[in-house]
Amino acid sequence: MNKRLTLNSFYTLIKFDEIDSTNDELKRLIYHSSGTCEGTVVWALCQKAGKGRRGKQWFSPPGNLYFSLLLKPETSIQNTGQIGFIASNTMADIIEQYSNHQIKINLKWPNDLLIKKHKIGGILLESLTSLQSTLLLDWLIIGIGININHYPPDNPYPVTSLFKENLILMTSDLTIFLYSFLNSFYVNYIKWKKNGFSFIKDEWLQKAEGLKKNISIKLEDKIVSGYFETIDETGALILIDPNGIKHKITTGDVSFG
Ligand code: BTN
Repeated sequence: MNKRLTLNSFYTLIKFDEIDSTNDELKRLIYHSSGTCEGTVVWALCQKAGKGRRGKQWFSPPGNLYFSLLLKPETSIQNTGQIGFIASNTMADIIEQYSNHQIKINLKWPNDLLIKKHKIGGILLESLTSLQSTLLLDWLIIGIGININHYPPDNPYPVTSLFKENLILMTSDLTIFLYSFLNSFYVNYIKWKKNGFSFIKDEWLQKAEGLKKNISIKLEDKIVSGYFETIDETGALILIDPNGIKHKITTGDVSFG
């Protein structure tokens, strides 16, 4: 990787040694700092109250990567999920490049990054809607956590880190790693704006764990099982249950086997 890589001028990077949550810091900036614009990135070396999806905590000691990116995508709230897929595809590519393609990343719906079915990273999307209409997206925050050197102990699901998978990244490399992700994300984000979701969806499906197999999904109040057929144009998971009924799932925790 190029050690003299510079960051695309689309971005304004703000770095903290420690913070509660980089997603929350971006929210504070939106509400309290008038100059905050699309492309602002908050990066922290550790988080004291890192947040995961569905109200979970995110293990955030020093040595891993935690950052949040602010976008103003001018799209409907329904299409917001598409941007999470751009982020997971891009991060999968960057990790694979860094390992000289020794590591293969698979993607778990909606936005988890896996190595051999073990979670290495996750993405938390938080959207703020416009004051005019709750159907219009105002801001989108994409929070990304990657287990570089550490993974959570006593976890209910299988987890790993890049270090455990023999990919050593020094702290100094973290900047280059982050810049590589952000530069590449920008290219894909512009392509998505121009060409739509279909190429992102195809790329994501190629890496999708459990696709065309039976999976289970934990919803708010029940578990549904069935055949994972595809994702649709909004990024919702399409599941066919044993009675042949099609379900469109927009949120939930997937498990395999
Ligand atoms: C998940 O549950 O898989 C999503 C995890 C997202 C964690 C990242 S770390 C940076 C950003 N700040 C947070 O508080 N959470 C996200």
